[in-house]
Amino acid sequence: MTPIHSRNPSFLLSLLCLIDVCVSLGSSHPTPPPLPIAPLPSAAQLRWQLGEMALFLHFGPNTFTDSEWGSGYAPPSVFRPSSLDARQWARTAAAGGFARVVLTAKHHDGFCLWPSAYTDYSVRSSPWRAGRGDVVAELAAAAREYGIGLGVYLSPWDRHDPSYGSTVKYNEYYLGQMTELLTNYGDIQEVWLDGAKGDDKEMEYHFDCWFQLIHQLQPGVMIFSDAGPDTRWIGDEAGVAGSTCWSLFNRSSVTIGHIDEQSSRHGDPHGIDWVPAECDVSIRQGWFWHSSEHPKSALELLDIYYKSVGRNCLLILNVPPNSSGLISDEDLQVLREFSALRITIFSHNVAWNATVTASSVRGGDNETRFSPSNVLQKGISSYWAPDESESDWAIFLDLGQLISFNVLQIQEPIQMGQRIIEFQVDILASGEWKTIANGTTIGYKRLLRFPMVETQFLRFIINKSRASPLISYIGIHADPFSTVYADPFSTVYDSVTARSSSTKRFSFRQRNKRFGYALGSAI
Ligand SMILES: *[C@@H]1O[C@H](CO)[C@@H](O)[C@H](O)[C@H]1NC(C)=O
Ligand SMILES: *[C@@H]1O[C@H](CO)[C@@H](O)[C@H](O)[C@H]1NC(C)=O
Ligand SMILES: *[C@@H]1O[C@H](CO)[C@@H](O)[C@H](O)[C@H]1NC(C)=O
Ligand SMILES: *[C@@H]1O[C@H](CO)[C@@H](O)[C@H](O)[C@H]1NC(C)=O
Ligand SMILES: *[C@@H]1O[C@H](CO)[C@@H](O)[C@H](O)[C@H]1NC(C)=O
Ligand SMILES: *[C@@H]1O[C@H](CO)[C@@H](O)[C@H](O)[C@H]1NC(C)=O
Repeated sequence: MTPIHSRNPSFLLSLLCLIDVCVSLGSSHPTPPPLPIAPLPSAAQLRWQLGEMALFLHFGPNTFTDSEWGSGYAPPSVFRPSSLDARQWARTAAAGGFARVVLTAKHHDGFCLWPSAYTDYSVRSSPWRAGRGDVVAELAAAAREYGIGLGVYLSPWDRHDPSYGSTVKYNEYYLGQMTELLTNYGDIQEVWLDGAKGDDKEMEYHFDCWFQLIHQLQPGVMIFSDAGPDTRWIGDEAGVAGSTCWSLFNRSSVTIGHIDEQSSRHGDPHGIDWVPAECDVSIRQGWFWHSSEHPKSALELLDIYYKSVGRNCLLILNVPPNSSGLISDEDLQVLREFSALRITIFSHNVAWNATVTASSVRGGDNETRFSPSNVLQKGISSYWAPDESESDWAIFLDLGQLISFNVLQIQEPIQMGQRIIEFQVDILASGEWKTIANGTTIGYKRLLRFPMVETQFLRFIINKSRASPLISYIGIHADPFSTVYADPFSTVYDSVTARSSSTKRFSFRQRNKRFGYALGSAI
């Protein structure tokens, strides 16, 4: 038995609180939030997802030799950017709405953009800044200055270092370099790696060991690979996710370098791990800068945005600095236009003044914490929750007047788990409900495009859910720019589009995804 005096202070306090709550709420306590449904995102995964977009910077000797993969034999003297300015890179990222920059600290050629103690094949042997430069340090300082995060890509494949080919020696070398990157440059938010290997050498990468060490050194880091552990590759280099896209995934079902296309693209509704996907794509044809190549248009980027961020993923857009060490004017122009398009479409939610009701409210109609009107508050911290006992879930919006729109944005509070399996969107037109879009997963953010409709009344029906569905945001928008939109009743569209830009390289890339560009251009 606990002696009564030992719990006296807290006991008295809770009694007082109880009385206080009882007085202010009448007779009942508020209903607590529903149980989260596992698996759930970690703090780092939540922060990463809220960032929505990252800027990838492929830069190195390849930039100067007009190649995509260096042989590993380019002399360090080729690396001589005349006016490298990492502040321009970070400023561009911050102004364009990118939450972080990820730099190729070492690509397959093995050349290090920081003065690694373990090799001479680095900036230290180059003429740039008379051998005293450090691109990683300059970018780390610039990222801090502009308030964005920093990530690094450290290629496992190394075509230069003699230890490559000897498993123990090379794993030691790799971890030595990784430790330099994760201990000398402050906060590193992402480590990006692939499973690329040279065909000429037998090598094993000790991924499990690498991942543990990376997490030890940077507890808030996100590790990207084919199989997570923190974020998974979407499975193409077109920046396109499946229209069904779960953050749920079985990590154990994938080995790095051998993905299953379906499960990478769509995730797994029965998955036991939270491993959201990252969509990588380059603004240009190649990953490195080539004077002969030109950026995609802002409209193409907008389309990719719908198919990545708009499908519960993070978009990592590669914008390669040129051989002067600067992001080219034409890329800057496209990024400005891309921002302007997104601002025009998404800064104005025409549902802002809507009257929102729902099939039921958790805790009763007077419970404001789960009220349907919460879906008009930005972000995912507040949400609508239905009564636990109901299963005909729907949210109704009365827009107050006839409004034309062709885009719907929906968000789930993923901190409570990803729930919705199937939904449809109806509008009231000439006295009848008409379905204008349907789909599967929502996740952090889902953007739906459909032909322009006009209505005052709209309903969002949830047909299937892993548990009581929770909705944190609904946005209604007009996009006057997109000329293509997914047929709302077709899921086939997605894979076709994704493939068309990368058909030739797809199967080869399953083994070695970063071989894509060179092979594509060789055929
Ligand atoms: C993922 O793991 C769960 C739990 O073990 C299992 O039910 C599910 O079938 C797995 N998914 C796949 C695609 O193997
Ligand atoms: C690189 O981009 C900058 C603009 O930021 C431009 O002034 C410079 O001429 C470009 N360099 C090359 C080699 O194209
Ligand atoms: C919402 O209502 C306010 C005040 O009635 C009005 O000024 C504003 O334009 C309305 N916004 C929208 C998106 O309809
Ligand atoms: C909700 O509040 C209204 C007005 O304050 C009250 O009349 C009604 O009885 C309340 N309903 C419930 C279920 O408590
Ligand atoms: C969407 O509706 C079409 C036509 O009714 C149907 O064939 C399809 O299965 C639905 N898709 C989803 C994901 O509910
Ligand atoms: C979704 O639910 C609505 C309303 O109950 C129903 O009319 C519609 O047929 C359902 N859709 C599917 C694909 O089951």
